[in-house]
Amino acid sequence: MNRKYRKTVIAGNWKMYKTPSETKEFMTEFKSIMPKGRWCDVALCVPAVCISAAVRAMRETRVGIGAENCNANASGAYTGEIAANMLLDAGCKYVILGHSERRAMGETNVDVNAKVLAALENGLIPIICVGESLEQREMELTMAHINYQVRAALSGVDAASLRRCVIAYEPIWAIGTGKTATSEQAEEVCREIRAIIRDMYGARAARGVSILYGGSMNAKNAAELLAQPDVDGGLIGGASLKPNDFATIIAATGEANE
Ligand code: 13P
Repeated sequence: MNRKYRKTVIAGNWKMYKTPSETKEFMTEFKSIMPKGRWCDVALCVPAVCISAAVRAMRETRVGIGAENCNANASGAYTGEIAANMLLDAGCKYVILGHSERRAMGETNVDVNAKVLAALENGLIPIICVGESLEQREMELTMAHINYQVRAALSGVDAASLRRCVIAYEPIWAIGTGKTATSEQAEEVCREIRAIIRDMYGARAARGVSILYGGSMNAKNAAELLAQPDVDGGLIGGASLKPNDFATIIAATGEANE
């Protein structure tokens, strides 16, 4: 983390867990134990049907609610899809885009880019996910793959809009496996992402962009990962489903007693 230049962000990704009633229960418990300091931005990205319960519960707090996907189109005959402006109107601040679980369902880099542009046009903060498979890592293609994903996702995004983007590095082999990247591995790729942004937008923009790590981050390993200079926060799956664990990770961003 480097709080002098950029925001620390701790974001939960609930994936397809929790009903609206369970959302309400989580929020009630989480609110009572949530670290109160303002040293980091906190986001909870929840299933679409839970957004309204989450927004209602967290209205008076600093927690921003997010979605886990959006459609790139403004409106139209897209049964089952949700447009970015609908998410904004429902009270969302964030939207996760390009998660590897969605890419595995067929989402391409071109799709991710179109969604990023739609999110930005509608005033949402996109949390753009990139990450290599185990096979790519073993073939030493990690950096080439990340480079392509980052450049594709940000195609047509101007410098002013980049300031509202969050990038999340999530190695696929670390997601939901309990196999966390070492802090060195996480730092190496997050630093590379910043170098790509520097090449695209210049040093100042690169210094200001928040780059998160995601993949089996939990209450135990968060502090070490977050201590890396280019890891500006976490995108947390499993551990964001438990109020205590999520609160501990927020506290691990430091100055918990602020
Ligand atoms: P886990 O924290 O459960 O590994 O999930 C990470 C993730 O995919 C967050 O988007």
